[in-house]
Amino acid sequence: MHWDCNTGPQKLSWRGKKAGWGALALSLHWPQHPRIALPIQIWARKLLPVPWLLCGPRRCASSNFKAADLQMQMTQEPQRKPSPTEPLVFGKMFTDHMLMVEWSGATGWGRPRIQPFQNLKLHPACSALHYSLQLFEGLKAYRGRDHRIRLFRPWLNMDRMLRSAQRLCLPTFDKVELLECIRRLVEVEKDWAPQGAGTSLYVRPVLIGNEPSLGVGCVTQALLFVILCPVGSYFPGDSMAPVSLLADPTFIRAWMGGVGDYKLGGNYGPTVLVQREAQKKGCEQVLWLYGPDQQLTEVGTMNIFIFWTHRDGVLELVTPPLDGIILPGVIRQSLLDMAQSWGEFRVAERKITMKELLQALEERRVREIFGSGTACQVCPVHRILYEGKNINIPTMEHGPELILRFQQELRAIQYGTRPHEWMLAV
Ligand SMILES: Cc1ncc(COP(=O)(O)O)c(C=O)c1O
Repeated sequence: MHWDCNTGPQKLSWRGKKAGWGALALSLHWPQHPRIALPIQIWARKLLPVPWLLCGPRRCASSNFKAADLQMQMTQEPQRKPSPTEPLVFGKMFTDHMLMVEWSGATGWGRPRIQPFQNLKLHPACSALHYSLQLFEGLKAYRGRDHRIRLFRPWLNMDRMLRSAQRLCLPTFDKVELLECIRRLVEVEKDWAPQGAGTSLYVRPVLIGNEPSLGVGCVTQALLFVILCPVGSYFPGDSMAPVSLLADPTFIRAWMGGVGDYKLGGNYGPTVLVQREAQKKGCEQVLWLYGPDQQLTEVGTMNIFIFWTHRDGVLELVTPPLDGIILPGVIRQSLLDMAQSWGEFRVAERKITMKELLQALEERRVREIFGSGTACQVCPVHRILYEGKNINIPTMEHGPELILRFQQELRAIQYGTRPHEWMLAV
């Protein structure tokens, strides 16, 4: 089934798990279909003395941009693409083009552009720089063995991005149209998508307030842009290096009533110092604890999972619930969906405390602890430094069976060896 922004609806290919994607696409695009739009225009002419009010150019601010209006400005100076053997350091190399859409309170969204990759020109008072009116997303496009390129569950990233925009009072947009613009950008840059296990084209959409004023308030100018980076495998070869974590309750990533469950740039800058503390103490990442009962919330920039026998004797996979301090990760949701579909053990979204974990470790009930995120997919944990003591986590001693199974299943879906509704073909 195929849906094309330029020609209107053919058949819908998008089957986002979230309700409303299909309906949204249809409701927004059916009115443009000639069979529907034409009679509306004819009736408008008959009924209204000034039909140009309906059919003429827009007279009010545009609340959405449309992929059908994309302007293409191709670079005259394409860069050398990395060779298949070249190591790709995350986020250091960018493709030739980017997507750019400007917004102003007076005129709304401008036409989206695919343009040569270039620096932004910002006013020194730009509100994104002063008050963190900035949000971003991170998703990946994978080149399959069949050389086709597919985006992994991009609908969930669009949902999360729109939520972040609403939280910051930045302009909202039509998720269907933004995703189609991103798909077109990836299509233009398809030769940049590396081939090989674990490699991908990382997609980074960003929305910033661009108010040239030092007042704190809703912006009247904003920029939405999307850049792409070819990235290598997080775990080179077949290796799977486990990470060690610093668990120090004096550092808090997110709190109730805060914005830790949104993907805002302001959530990340302050974590750099804590990450450095962890490294100084010989750990690779931070285990973020929260509250007087020291709940385990996230690992670095990943969601956390524990595969254990719960104290009630039932084998379960557990992760903290989306109660306001947890980022709703796309991989988190995917692991929960997969595990639920297997029906082999209990799958729970429940608070987990340090006390519970320590007791489970003592009683040898813990099988695997891991983080999940777009960067690494699934990342094993083998040690936690807590209250000055190193606690061994027996993840690797258990295979890690579940982690490897998740990795394999995700790879089969992402690289197209198993056709799946989670993938959007570019
Ligand atoms: C704080 C935090 N938690 C979890 C995740 C994992 O989210 P996802 O699976 O969508 O990459 C991320 C990654 O962006 C993150 O920054």
